[in-house]
Parts: sequence; C-alpha cells; structure tokens
Amino acid sequence: MTRRHAVIGLGRLAGALVPALRQAGEVVVVGRRSPGAGELTQAEAAQQSDWVWLTVPDDQIAATAAALPWRDGQLALHCSGATPLSALAPALAAAGFHPLKLLAGDAGLAGVHVGIEAGAGHHAALRALALALGLVPLALPSPMTAQARAAYHAAANLAASGVLAVLAEAEVLWASAGLARGDALPAMAPLTRGALDTALARGLPGAVSGPIARGDTGVVTRHLGALAAAGLADDLLLALGRRQLALADSAGRLDAAQITALRALLAMP
Ligand SMILES: NC(=O)c1ccc[n+]([C@@H]2O[C@H](COP(=O)([O-])OP(=O)(O)OC[C@H]3O[C@@H](n4cnc5c(N)ncnc54)[C@H](OP(=O)(O)O)[C@@H]3O)[C@@H](O)[C@H]2O)c1
Repeated sequence: MTRRHAVIGLGRLAGALVPALRQAGEVVVVGRRSPGAGELTQAEAAQQSDWVWLTVPDDQIAATAAALPWRDGQLALHCSGATPLSALAPALAAAGFHPLKLLAGDAGLAGVHVGIEAGAGHHAALRALALALGLVPLALPSPMTAQARAAYHAAANLAASGVLAVLAEAEVLWASAGLARGDALPAMAPLTRGALDTALARGLPGAVSGPIARGDTGVVTRHLGALAAAGLADDLLLALGRRQLALADSAGRLDAAQITALRALLAMP
C-alpha cells in the first residue's frame, strides 16, 4: 500500500526522518511555516497526506495540530518522548514514534531504538515502518502514565545531553591542566566510546573503571584538589563518584575498608 507522509517542520529530526522514509520507498512531502519557492505550507502538506508527522518543538505540537485541517483516515504522529498523544487530539487517530538518538540533521537513524506508542489499529503498521527504516521497535507501556513518560524521557535525556554536560566539565579540567582546549573533545571521545563499548559487552558494573573502582582514594583526593584549583564546584564529581562507587560495589570490586574510605571522601560537604 502506498502511503503519503507529510512531515511538518523541517528541523533536526526531520533532517534524518525525511531521507530515511524516502530511502524506504515512502512518499514524503514537507510542510513549513514559511515555505520558500516550490515548498508547501503545513496545511497543504497535511491535506495531501495519510500520515502527518508533527516534527516541531515539543511545546508547539498541540498548537500546530490544532491549526491543521484533519480528515477521517489520517494518522497524526509526533516524535516527542515527553509529550502525550493527547497533544494530537484534533486528529482522529494519533501515535508516537520516538527515535532514541540525539539528532542534528547530519546522521541517519539506522540501528536506533524507536519508542512506539499507538493504538491497536496502527501499532503493527508503525512497527513494520520502523523495521523498514532499519530501526529497532520498542513497545512502550500502554497506557503510559505521566510519571512513566517523564521517567522514560528523563532517562533518554540523561543518556544524551547529560553525557554532554559531563564532557563539558571534563573539558574545563583538561584546559586547566594547560592542554589545548580544542584537543579535549577529540582526545576524550574514545574514552567515552570505549566506556560505552565495554558497558555493552560487560554491563555497567563490570565496565566501570578508574580510581573509584580500584579504591584509589589518594587519586580521588587529588582530583578534588584539581577541581578546586580550576575554580569548579565539586558537586558533579562527588555525585558521579558516588554512582561509580555503587556500580563498583555491586560488581564486588571493593572490600569493606575501601568502600568506607570512599564513602567518607565522596560525602557531600
Ligand atoms: N533532535 C533530536 O535529537 C530529537 C530526537 C528525538 C525526538 N525529537 C523530537 O522531534 C521533534 C522535533 O525536534 P527537532 O530537534 O527536530 O527540533 P528543531 O530542530 O528545533 O526543528 C523543529 C522545526 O519545527 C519548526 N518550528 C520551529 N519553531 C516553530 C514554532 N514556534 N511553531 C511551529 N513550528 C516551528 C521549524 O521548521 P520549519 O522552519 O520547516 O517550519 C523547525 O525547524 C521534537 O518533538 C523532539 O522532541 C528530536
């Protein structure tokens, strides 16, 4: 069956979704707020389509859905893990399709898990589309409570932008050592990738490494001193240190004396 898709809002996610849909043989038009020559308005694109994807900022999904001309037989979709399907209420049928990847319009979707939230009438078709796009379908709890949705989205955000915040802190420390700041990210990226690869192979507790996992309290003490010398607050390092300690402890890597010493060192002041 040939299905026509309208993608409303050509941003970072649409920059990956539109080519992926087209490569899978789907027919796609794009609707824009301020169409240029040869481009469609949001309403024009929606009117021509069966599945209408609202790939606009989360806070604009409800208003954008309310402004579109819906008809029977159309499916409204959004890609926001943080937003309930009720935001698409003006459409007669609604679904969520959330690729779990930080996207900036310059990378594909293949291999990415995608959270699918849909009624029985559309779930199978969305799952089939996910597989056709090379995605890994992930069934979400149904119905999804507001608390579950917030936890799901917070987990995804921590795994993406949360890691970036940690790397930003590492970059400041790197520069405080007198090293070129521009080298920091390329030099540290293999550390992050290596940690991820090891975690995928061994699980998080088995992968954690470094002075906390080894019980080297002297090294951790010097890390805290380096933070102070760089003018950085110690809250992030202490909080992450306690989480690393829990991982190392759960893997049975430390003895009781090491755990006691590290707990004292990593306690919030
Ligand atoms: N980027 C990611 O990593 C990612 C990953 C998973 C899910 N998502 C979800 O995908 C959706 C889109 O995110 P994004 O990162 O692609 O956003 P984005 O890059 O900010 O792009 C959103 C697009 O929406 C349109 N737009 C901007 N402001 C608008 C407004 N006030 N009203 C209506 N339309 C507006 C613009 O397109 P036009 O100029 O063409 O109108 C803009 O390019 C969100 O629901 C987000 O949660 C994003």
